[in-house]
Amino acid sequence: MRPSVLGSAMRPSASPLVSPWRFVSLADGSSLDPLQAVIESGLAEGLTVGAAVRLTGSWVASPGAAQSHELQVREVKVLGSSDAKTFPIQKKYQTPEYLRTLPHLRPRTPLNALLLRLRSEAVTSLTQFFARQDFVQTHPPIITSSDCEGAGEVFTLNPANDMAGQPGKESADSQDSFFRSKKYLTVSTQLHLEALAQSVGNVWTLSPVFRAEQSDTSRHLSEFYMLEAEMSFVDDMNSVMDLAEDMMRQLGTDLYQSDTVKSLLTRTPHFGQDLAPAGEVDRRWQGLMQPDWPRITYTEAIDILKQHEDKFEHKPVWGAGLQSEHEKFIASTVGKDRPVFVTNYPRDIKAFYMRPTRGPGSEDPSRVTVDCFDLLVPELCEIAGGSMREHQLEPLLDIMTRQGIIKSPSETASEDDSGNGLQWYADLRRWGCPPHGGFGLGFDRLLSYLSGVQTVRDIVSFPRWYGRCDC
Ligand code: 4AD
Ligand code: MG
Repeated sequence: MRPSVLGSAMRPSASPLVSPWRFVSLADGSSLDPLQAVIESGLAEGLTVGAAVRLTGSWVASPGAAQSHELQVREVKVLGSSDAKTFPIQKKYQTPEYLRTLPHLRPRTPLNALLLRLRSEAVTSLTQFFARQDFVQTHPPIITSSDCEGAGEVFTLNPANDMAGQPGKESADSQDSFFRSKKYLTVSTQLHLEALAQSVGNVWTLSPVFRAEQSDTSRHLSEFYMLEAEMSFVDDMNSVMDLAEDMMRQLGTDLYQSDTVKSLLTRTPHFGQDLAPAGEVDRRWQGLMQPDWPRITYTEAIDILKQHEDKFEHKPVWGAGLQSEHEKFIASTVGKDRPVFVTNYPRDIKAFYMRPTRGPGSEDPSRVTVDCFDLLVPELCEIAGGSMREHQLEPLLDIMTRQGIIKSPSETASEDDSGNGLQWYADLRRWGCPPHGGFGLGFDRLLSYLSGVQTVRDIVSFPRWYGRCDC
């Protein structure tokens, strides 16, 4: 337990004499409200703000109005002292910006402890969900040979004493480099999950991923957790969307009645201003628990947006990506409080591995779309993205060639993979690859949405984003 504030008062006793007492607020990260301890002044030495202490005493009904019970302390042990004068976290309102400069101490504040508990409970719920669905939890690698999304946002990995990084050495591609060729931090574990799904059917993981995006927004981190699931022997993308929807609805149902979410929906002077209004956050949870989230195609979304063209800075155009102002509009008008799936985006703006859409409407070569979806919510926009994967070898090699990932369809058959690191991925299609699909959920974005924090930087204990990686 840690004292978060010390009060000193004279408490009237039964006798006509009065004795000196001190009231101490104690926190152990398990609740928003501190516990009140009542200690004789003589025992209270060393009970400074921020110290780690063990107090022994009796749990008794409190005469005070602010709490039902309090700890009447008999014995005090200071296990870790704290210099209250220099302890940077005081019991008064401190802005999220200020607290972000202290990522190693910020978790000790009541709101940040609450957010840690929310994360932990969400992981428990999701783990149970997937276990019940017979999905196998897997641990794909963090170090990879390729840029899964092809967006050029990978961090390159080199040992600090890499020969190739030394003066006179040109590139980390040389034989002197640690892995003998360029390696990266993963941007998504999807490609490896596809390999694992061919073994045990349906798989999932919750893994750190890394993106070197220079996006200084409230939605972007350089390191974040992505929950990814991959389903084998699945041909209809609705099954993948059903899984994403069921998973999030179950999360909502499991957690909504919890003490943690109840605390999240209270507003105290300590963090009241830092979260979205309680009614708004409550609506987000309610929306998550509702059935039948809308599913519209990208083409339908563009048609809707065009009807309100004058509202947007960027004009909606078929073939271009949806801007966040477009996503917000679709999420709030089509979904209301429910998340919205937007499906079948144009092939040219999506990743190489997505399967082209078949069937009526797919004949026009200038309007080829792929079987993919983005899941949108108001404010945060895209929280998950998924697709059916191209599971046939020839079409996969064709699209990889067209996108310049390989020089020709014959390239990945050779030992020399030209460093793109995707020979093994094409290989999966050579020997018994069933139709399959999956999705990736931005876990930190989802937690931001459900907690109401104003930026994803405040949902992560040690946030890393463009220009910042404090400790
Ligand atoms: O849409 P993305 O890029 O999808 C993939 O990486 C697929 N390979 C996933 C799959 O199919 N297995 O990323 C998935 C989600 C996004 O919808 C978004 O919520 C989140 O990851 N995300 C970020 N979250 C925080 N900071 C960033 N820089 C993010 N980039 C993506
Ligand atoms: Mg996406």
